[in-house]
Order: sequence, then C-alpha cells, then structure tokens
Amino acid sequence: MTNPIQGPFPYTRFRRVRKSAATRALVRETRLSVGDLIWPVFVCDGDGVEQPVASMPGVMRRSVDKIVEAASQAFDLGIPAICLFPYTDPSLKTADCAEAWNPDNLSNRATRAIKQAVPGIAIMTDVALDPYNINGHDGFVVDGEILNDETIEALVKQALSQAEAGADIIGPSDMMDGRIGALREALETEGHTNVCLMSYAAKYASGFYGPFRDAVGASGALKGDKTTYQMDPANSDEALRLVARDLEEGADMVMVKPGMPYLDICRRVKDSFGAPTYAYQVSGEYAMLQAAFQNGWLDADKVMMESLLTFKRAGCDGILTYFAPEAARKLAKS
Ligand code: PBG
Repeated sequence: MTNPIQGPFPYTRFRRVRKSAATRALVRETRLSVGDLIWPVFVCDGDGVEQPVASMPGVMRRSVDKIVEAASQAFDLGIPAICLFPYTDPSLKTADCAEAWNPDNLSNRATRAIKQAVPGIAIMTDVALDPYNINGHDGFVVDGEILNDETIEALVKQALSQAEAGADIIGPSDMMDGRIGALREALETEGHTNVCLMSYAAKYASGFYGPFRDAVGASGALKGDKTTYQMDPANSDEALRLVARDLEEGADMVMVKPGMPYLDICRRVKDSFGAPTYAYQVSGEYAMLQAAFQNGWLDADKVMMESLLTFKRAGCDGILTYFAPEAARKLAKS
C-alpha cells in the first residue's frame, strides 16, 4: 500500500481521527503487547545473590534461586520467554572453552531449575564461546585468528548440552559461518526436533554491547574486537544475505542486533522474508535510556514504551529487552 487515495484539504483532515483517545485507538496500526517480550537475564554463582550491574541501572546478576524467582514473576506478568546469560567465574575461562558444554555449567543449571519450577515460560539460551573464553571472543582464537569451522564443532556441543538441559530456544550469537546448519543437523540427529533456533543473523560489531560485557564479565577479557565475525555497521544488503542463508540452514526465527539504531534493517528483513523477526534492544541502548531517565532528561515510562513500540512498527514480531518486566507491568495497567 504505497499511495492511499485521499482527497485534498479540507476533504481530508488527518486531525479528525486523532481527536480523541477512542478514534486514535481505532486507527492505531501497531501495538505492543506482553507477548512480544523476551527478557534477557544474567545468572551468577551463589545463593540468594542479586548483584546490581553498575552500567545497567535496574539490572542484576542473579544466582540460580533468584533467577527462578525472576522467571516466575516474569511468567506471572505474561512474559513468554526469558533469555539466560551466564556470568562465568574467571577461573573457568579457558582457551578450549570446555565449560561451555559442561552439562552442569551455570546456564544449564539455571535452565533445569527454571524448567522445573516454571515450566510455562520458554527458556532461550546463548550459543557462543565468549563467556567461557580466556580471551573474550565468541570463537577459538589461534595466532590471533578467530577460527570458524573448529568453533562450530564446539558450538554444537554447547547447544546440545543446552537442549539436554531443557532449552526451548537456542540463540547462536557467535556469527560463525555455517553454524545454523550444523546446529540444526545436530539437534535433529539427537532427537531435539522441537528446539527452536533463533539466529542472531544480522549482528553488528557494535559499540552498544559495552555494558553487557561488563555484566557477563567479558570486557576485561576481550582482546581486540569482533570485526572479523560480526557485521560492519555500514552494511544493509549483507544483512539480507545473512538472514536468507540462516533461514535456509534451518533457523526458525531471526534477529537483528542492536535494535534502535538498526530499525531500517528490521524493516528490510521482515519485508524480504516474512519470517519471525526479532530485535535485541541491547545493553548500551538500555544504559543510554536509563542514564537520561536518571537525570530527569527523559520521561522514563513514556520513552520506554515508545522505544519498544518502534520495533513493532519496524516489523518485528518481538523484542529482547531489559525493560521487559517494567514494560509488562505497564502494559497490564493500560
Ligand atoms: C555475545 C553476546 C553479546 C551480546 C549478546 N550475546 C555481546 C557481544 O557480542 O560482544 C550483547 C547483548 C547486549 O549488549 O545487551 N555472544
């Protein structure tokens, strides 16, 4: 629909339908609902731990028992999915990243505990080596090079351990080539036929991930940058080729990341493929908004909801956002 027919002024007055809340509701094109939200959370060791993340006001690292409580609250709010990110003890970070596929690692323990206590919430997990890698990279590093094919073998082991633990949606965030096909094949072969793959298909080498790397304890570890595997922020056509490739290899859902600065990519992806499309409103976007809220420079409730609605308008089916519980509470009241 490019050129709707409309008469000249005064036959057409756009303000007519804006005159009341009732008419505005009738002409509203997109809506945000609680079913659109995926809540990323950080898991840490210990018991009864809730440790604030300095660069992400309101966000905490939680021990498994507290993650279970949080998942239960999220479920009660109607949030369909929670996405787990482990804060791995530095002593468990190695060059071979073996902790990534340890059946009893933090992420897998949290998955099992949530599955048992809150079976109704979907659990998404992250596939990438960075929380476990001594050098903070998503893949194996040899002589300064991030190895692709060797990394995929490790990602398959990691994903299978997550599926065994009960993950419903596996989110490969590593940007290695060919990993979706390898993961899909392994999941099918091992009987995990109903585990979804949400590919971080168009993931950019962005400066907006800074606070997240603090939250998972990867910023100190990271040597160099991720520009040889994550996308150049200058590119748009490449995102479509990546999404096409990942859908062909067996992704059920695709993601664009970061979110707000990449809404043009969300729209192109949705229009080109019509596949379930998600955006990740990442840590830096959250931190930026929280900083302005804390200073009283922006109206928190208003801007939070507006920022989330824009993803729906851009064609996304859902949003990974640290605002999920707050937004859900607000949606329940409206
Ligand atoms: C790493 C991963 C990152 C995020 C999700 N998974 C960081 C990175 O690629 O360095 C970022 C999320 C955020 O910033 O909120 N595999």
